[in-house]
Amino acid sequence: MVEANIPPWVWYLVAAGRLSPSADNSQPWRFVFDGQRLSVEFDETRGGQLGRTHPAVLLAFGALLENLVQAARAAKIDTSRWEFSSLADTGCLVRIPVPDQPLAQSELPAVICARHTNRGPFERLPLPKETVSALTTQREGCAFVQAFAEQEAISQLAQLVRLASELRFQTEEIHRWLAGSLRFTEEEAARGDGLDVATLALPPGGKWLSRFLSKWERMAALNRLGAYKLLARIEAAQFTQAGAAVALVSKDVGDDAWLEAGRLLERIWLTLTEHKIAAHPYFVLSDQLWRLRTGEIPPNLQPTAERLAQKARALFAERMPLMLLRVGRARQPAKRSQRLPTASLLVTKARAQHSKEQLCTRSNSPC
Ligand SMILES: Cc1cc2nc3c(=O)[nH]c(=O)nc-3n(C[C@H](O)[C@H](O)[C@H](O)COP(=O)(O)O)c2cc1C
Repeated sequence: MVEANIPPWVWYLVAAGRLSPSADNSQPWRFVFDGQRLSVEFDETRGGQLGRTHPAVLLAFGALLENLVQAARAAKIDTSRWEFSSLADTGCLVRIPVPDQPLAQSELPAVICARHTNRGPFERLPLPKETVSALTTQREGCAFVQAFAEQEAISQLAQLVRLASELRFQTEEIHRWLAGSLRFTEEEAARGDGLDVATLALPPGGKWLSRFLSKWERMAALNRLGAYKLLARIEAAQFTQAGAAVALVSKDVGDDAWLEAGRLLERIWLTLTEHKIAAHPYFVLSDQLWRLRTGEIPPNLQPTAERLAQKARALFAERMPLMLLRVGRARQPAKRSQRLPTASLLVTKARAQHSKEQLCTRSNSPC
């Protein structure tokens, strides 16, 4: 199948999915079109390090699904015919059949194009009442929104961010993953995936420091002098520069809960964008609490992780925070991150089979 044969509805939905947020801009997905159906699949080459059941991956797929559904509704594509499957079991989230009717519009909803991460300072002004109620009335499955408007509550959350960041900066595995996703030059950023350091709103010298500390051996050496405490303090201080904090919480923490939280994340992010309120997600708290549950915290860090979990239980009334966001009026516009080209995200069935075989040959694993 040649690309000229790919119909407009496929281009349209892929364009909506491509703009979705993902942890460290990893974009762990691909879109496979077999001439009849568009499948949204996990991509081993970009998400393999984490795996398709990792909470960060499930959150990103949830956000992607929300973008697809909102774009579909705008173009009058009937989503009731979409066939969902378990990402964990099959590696495929949804199969979308050819729509009954031509697209009602070919332009994506403007809000999907406008949504982005802003890591710069926000005003400490309270959010408008209608924005807060537009957020807190939303839920998806078992995931719902908890908003923290008082500075006192935001400071308490910032303490959790500080503790979680202290753990993160001392964890080799996370450090290496983050370091591997950083893009320091314009050329590296132009590849379209990973974290462009220009989007991180770093202070003067911050880019140099990030590059220097990206080697774990240096970070580990400086940690003996307390570097992790300083970096975590900076992260927590930035968290308090907000009009409000928002947590997506749930009693359930299974795969579905993370997917639902991902949908909710994107939905509230789009709502905030419509209300001209900037957003900055913080995954560090959820990640550390998850690691504690799954036994991945190094033994020397266990007591701090337990302390973190105890404080979190009190603040979130025994629910698990699946994602945290700092929100508010941005003092300046953010530098936007790039995306992989559509051509490398959208594959036809024949190309998908070919690259799967190549992957299996390389890893010597049975297909
Ligand atoms: C699951 C998930 C976790 C994220 N965690 C963080 C985070 O801890 N810190 C951060 O600055 N951005 C975080 N982000 C934002 C992504 O880095 C961002 O969405 C991605 O780089 C694409 O940029 P965009 O949101 O501007 O389109 C996260 C996004 C997702 C979906």
